[in-house]
Amino acid sequence: MVSRNLFARLMLVCVALSCPWQSVLAEEETVVVTAEKMLDVVSGKVVQHPQITIRAGRIVNVASAGAAIPAGARTFDLPGMTILPGLIDMHVHLTSDPHYSGYRTNEFTDNFWTVVGVANARKTVEAGFTTVRNVGSNNYDDVAIKQGIEEHQITGPRIVPATYMIGATGGHCDTTEFPPSFVIPNPGIADGPDAIRATVRKLRKYGAEVIKFCATGGVFSKTDSVSGQQYSLVEMKALVDEAHMLGMKVAVHAHGTGGINDAIRAGADTIEHASLSDEESYALAKLHGTWFSMDVYNDDYILAEGEKNGMFRESLDKERAIGLKQRQNFRNAVKAGVKMVYGTDGGIYPNGDNARQFATMVEWGMTPLQAIRSATVNAAEALGRSQDVGAIEVGRYGDLIAVKGDPLTDVKLLRSVSFVMKGGEIIKNIP
Ligand code: ARG
Repeated sequence: MVSRNLFARLMLVCVALSCPWQSVLAEEETVVVTAEKMLDVVSGKVVQHPQITIRAGRIVNVASAGAAIPAGARTFDLPGMTILPGLIDMHVHLTSDPHYSGYRTNEFTDNFWTVVGVANARKTVEAGFTTVRNVGSNNYDDVAIKQGIEEHQITGPRIVPATYMIGATGGHCDTTEFPPSFVIPNPGIADGPDAIRATVRKLRKYGAEVIKFCATGGVFSKTDSVSGQQYSLVEMKALVDEAHMLGMKVAVHAHGTGGINDAIRAGADTIEHASLSDEESYALAKLHGTWFSMDVYNDDYILAEGEKNGMFRESLDKERAIGLKQRQNFRNAVKAGVKMVYGTDGGIYPNGDNARQFATMVEWGMTPLQAIRSATVNAAEALGRSQDVGAIEVGRYGDLIAVKGDPLTDVKLLRSVSFVMKGGEIIKNIP
C-alpha cells in the first residue's frame, strides 16, 4: 500500500516536472489538449478554446472545445493559456557552454562536451524548443545525442545534426589559437572543391542531415578578420552542389558582405548571422529564396558576460565592431522582405535561454507574430519539414507548448513556457 501511494505521488510530481519513464509510456496513447486560446501560426489568427487530439505522436484533430473525446484519451486542460506549436531554433550548439570560453575550454576532457550536450538537450526542450538544428559539434556528438533522445535514453528536442562545420584552413571553422606543434584533428577542414565535396560525403556518411560551412571569419575565432571571405565562390558552389545532390540543405556562417553574397549566389539555403548584409544581399536573397537566420540577441550576452567567461580579447573587439550593425541590418532585411528564420546560436549564450531572442527581434522591427512565425512555420519550411513540425495541423507531430497569457501582446511570455509536449509526450506541465 505504502509503495502504491508513493508511486501515485511520484506520478503527480512527474506531471509537474518530467520523468523519463513517463515519456515512454505516452507514445501510443491518445492525448487531448484544451486551452483558452491557440495561435494558428499558418493563418496568423488566434483561435478561442481549441481542442487538439494527438494519437501515436501525431496531431489527428484540431477542433473546438466540446468536440468528442476518444475513449481512454488522457486529457490536459490549460486554462488561461495560449497554445502554440513547439518552437524551432535553427542555430544551436548543444555541446557548447559560454561559461567556458577562450582557452578555458581546454581544462576539460573531450567527452565533457558530450555531457554538456546531454544537459543542454533537456534545457532546450523544457524551454519549449522541440526542434533544433545543431550547426556544429565535434566527435559526431550531435548524432549521438539525437540517437539517445530517439531511443529514450535522454530527454531533448528533435535534432537536425550538421556534425562538424566545414571550413578553410585557418578560417573561423578551424582551430587557430594554438602554435603549430599542437595538432588538433578536425575532419571538417577542407580546401578546394574536390576536398570539400569529399568532406560533405564523409559527414553525410556519419550522420549529418544538414551541412554547415564558414564563408567568412567570425567573432569567436581568435585570429581571423570577422568580415573576411574564406571560401571562393567556386568552392561554395561545389559544396552546395554536393550537399543538395545528397539531399541536404546548407547553412552558411557569414558575417561579411562578400561572403554573404557569394554564399547566396552559390545556392545556400540559410545565411547565419548575416551581420554586414546590404541592399544587394537582400535583393539576392529574395531572388534565390534564401533564408536569413540572424542571432540578434547574442550581442547583449557577449558584451555583458564575455570577458568574465574567458572570451579572447580579439573576439570581444570583433563583437564590438559588428554587434550593433547586425541589429541595424536585421531591421533593414526585415523591411526589405527577406525571409527570416529564428536562429539564436544557443551555446554562445546559455542553451535553454533560446527564447530571449524574440524580444530583440521585436525591438528591431518585427511584429510578435513575425518573430513567432520565424521560429515555427518558417523554420519548418526552411528545414524542408513542413509535413512534420512548425504548426498545429493534422498530420504534423504533436509538438505543442503553452504560455500563460497572450504572446502576441507580450512576446517575452515565451521565456516562461508552462507546458511542453513533444510528439504527444508530456515533457513539462506546470499549472
Ligand atoms: N558564432 C558567431 C561567431 O563566432 C557568434 C557571433 C555572435 N555575435 C553576434 N553579434 N551575433 O562569429
